Parts: sequence; C-alpha cells; structure tokens
Amino acid sequence: MLKLNRRIAALKPSATMAAETRATELKAAGVDVISLAAGEPDFDTPERIKDAARRALANGQTKYTPVAGTRDLKEAIRLKLKRDSGLDYEIAEIMASAGGKQAEANIIAALFDEGDEVIIPTPAWVSFVAMVNLSGAAAKLVECPEDRGFVLDPERLARAITPRTRGIILNSPSNPTGAVYSPGKLSELAKILLEAGLWILSDDVYEHIVYDGPVPHIFRIEPRLQARGFALNSLSKAYAMTGWRIGFAAGPKEVIAAAARLQGQNSGNPNSITQAAAIEALSGPQDEIKTMMAEFRRRRELVVERVRKLPGFKLPNVPSGAFYVFPNITELIGASLGDQTITDGNSFAELLLAEEHVALVGGNDFGAPHHVRMSYATSMENLNAAFDRIGKLVARLKR
Ligand SMILES: Cc1ncc(COP(=O)(O)O)c(C=O)c1O
Repeated sequence: MLKLNRRIAALKPSATMAAETRATELKAAGVDVISLAAGEPDFDTPERIKDAARRALANGQTKYTPVAGTRDLKEAIRLKLKRDSGLDYEIAEIMASAGGKQAEANIIAALFDEGDEVIIPTPAWVSFVAMVNLSGAAAKLVECPEDRGFVLDPERLARAITPRTRGIILNSPSNPTGAVYSPGKLSELAKILLEAGLWILSDDVYEHIVYDGPVPHIFRIEPRLQARGFALNSLSKAYAMTGWRIGFAAGPKEVIAAAARLQGQNSGNPNSITQAAAIEALSGPQDEIKTMMAEFRRRRELVVERVRKLPGFKLPNVPSGAFYVFPNITELIGASLGDQTITDGNSFAELLLAEEHVALVGGNDFGAPHHVRMSYATSMENLNAAFDRIGKLVARLKR
C-alpha cells in the first residue's frame, strides 16, 4: 500500500478550488455553466500593472531575487502598510510570497508545533485549518453564530483559550461570510488576546472590499498587539491579480526570518516579474479599487435581494465586506429531487451543478454545513441568470 506522509495523507483538496475545477471541467465539455464558486474578481488586472510587468520583462528582470522579495517591493509594502493601515514596519519585518496563501502557510509553519492549539473562528476560509494541521498544531474551531453576525464573541474566545493555545487567526472582512469586525468588537477581543499573550494572525486580504467605510486595523486599535501579530495580505483581490501569485506578511523579524528560511528551502522568491508589477500595484494610483467597489456594491444589492426571495434560503445579515453571501439553507435539508436528498450545503451544491449548471461552494469545509457560499464576483447578467436557475431547482424540490 502506498504510504504517504501522515499529515499530507490527511490533507483534503481545497473545497473552493475543487468546486471551481468541476465547473471548469463541465464548461470544457460544452456545458453552459455559471460559476458563483470562484473567490476571484472577474475584472482584468489594471493596465498600469500589466505595463510594469512588460517593462520588467523587457529589462531582463528574469532572475532569482532575494527569497523574501526585492528591497523595492518590501519598501512598497512598508509604505502601503503605513498609508492604508497606519502601521509602522521595518524592511526586515516584511516577507513577500507567492500569494497570500504561501505567506500565511509559511508563517503558520514557522510559529506552531505539535501540542499547540490555534483558534480559528468559524465559519472560516477553508485553508486555515489545513495550514494549522500541516504545522502539527491542532485547529480549535470556535463557532461564531449567525445571529451574532458571524462575529467572534469575546466570551466564547475567553472560554476557548487553554494553556496550550498559542495563536488565533482573524479574518475581517471574512471569507465566506462577508462579516466585518467593528472597532468596538476588535477592541474587546484585543483585550483578551493581549492578556492571553497569543500570536495574532490578521488576514487582511479583503481590507479594501468594505461597504460601510474602512475599519481600523486591530494593531491600530491595540498597538501592543503588533509585537505579537502578523498583518497578512495579498494583491489577489484588491488588484485583480489572482493568477500573478503575490502576497505578503509583516510581523516580528525573528519569525519573518524563520518563515523566509522555509520559503528559501521549499520554493524560493515569488516570481520576479510579478514583484515588479506588485510595486506598481501598491504604489501607483489606487483609483481602480473605487471603480471595482462601485460595481461590487451594485451586485451585492442584487444578490441580497434575490437570495432573500428564494424559498428555503435565509440571509439575516447583509454582508458588510468581501464579495460573498453565505445564506442558510437549513429549510432545504431533507428536501429531494428523484432519489437525491439534500443533506447539507455540499449536497445542495452538487445537485445544483448537476441539474441547473450553477456552481457554488457548500458550507461544509468552511465549518457551516447548513450554508452555501455564493461569490458575486461575476457580471449582473450572470448573477441574474444564476438566480433564475437556482429558483428553478428549488421549485422542483419535494419538501
Ligand atoms: C481569506 C483569504 N485569505 C487568503 C487568501 C489567499 O489569496 P492568494 O493566495 O490568492 O493571495 C484568500 C483567497 O481566496 C482568502 O479568501
């Protein structure tokens, strides 16, 4: 029998990537699929960023760079953190990686070990648990109830902390719920985290995609947390650069150096052309974000209205950030079509793809099996057509 590494053998494929792959395969087979599965903006990367990449290519910037990124890129990241979040970092406290995912995975691998517990408020992005488990630590899931807006309750946090707890992963705005932590809530949580002396991993990937105005960073709200925390980010969402693979981590330099050693041994520097493009993305005019937000805002309105009209779907909270809705489909559990019964979000997603060719992601791997995640990073036309199809399926279900 094939014997794999124990932790790799236990690793599941990313649910979001699996859903998107199934949709792509069906499309390639000629099926007219509408995908609400992907976590990526449908906009093209702005021309000024592509131009910077073309220049880098023409100038021969095609060689290895320092493992944690060029000095110019780290400087652009340093200035960005100051401009957007009011946070001061030194160059040695910054690491660029091939995507936010790699930056986060390397920080988690550098920090945690067997016997440690890392708190993950759920519903949570699918990869957090996988990354923590790969480090050898245990993911301690703390549920954030829907009737509290999917936001971590300070009392629940306090109860979840044990002598083994070493860290927490916060993600605001959240993938998959779109929940945004208010300054008041962050301040309550900060008090507990400071006292417990945990590592705070702040996933800020959706920081610009907020509908009710910007929220201060948790390290601005409680500056003493910055010495035990990491600001983790990506250019994927804000600059429509998912395929370029560029993200970064900022935090205490000993840990950044350790994570960069890991990066140096298992992958090396992020792509050199992408780094040049990232400097332009972070340092150039930031107007595209506003244009993108105006479009996301229109789509959010449409999607919230259409989800709320679907029988069996509940969406009590209008998401304040990101480009997802995460409706509750508890009322559809037990409903059937022929010999197929809906047992959870995943089985609903499977049935929907098979019957009406709409792809979305079941909530199971986000830690919320009675929910589904729909991304509205697609055109109004696609969204309207997708909701027509979902409505058709729901009308055919025997309840
Ligand atoms: C919450 C969250 N963090 C991190 C990432 C990583 O993004 P990337 O690796 O494309 O930079 C994603 C992407 O979907 C995400 O949703």
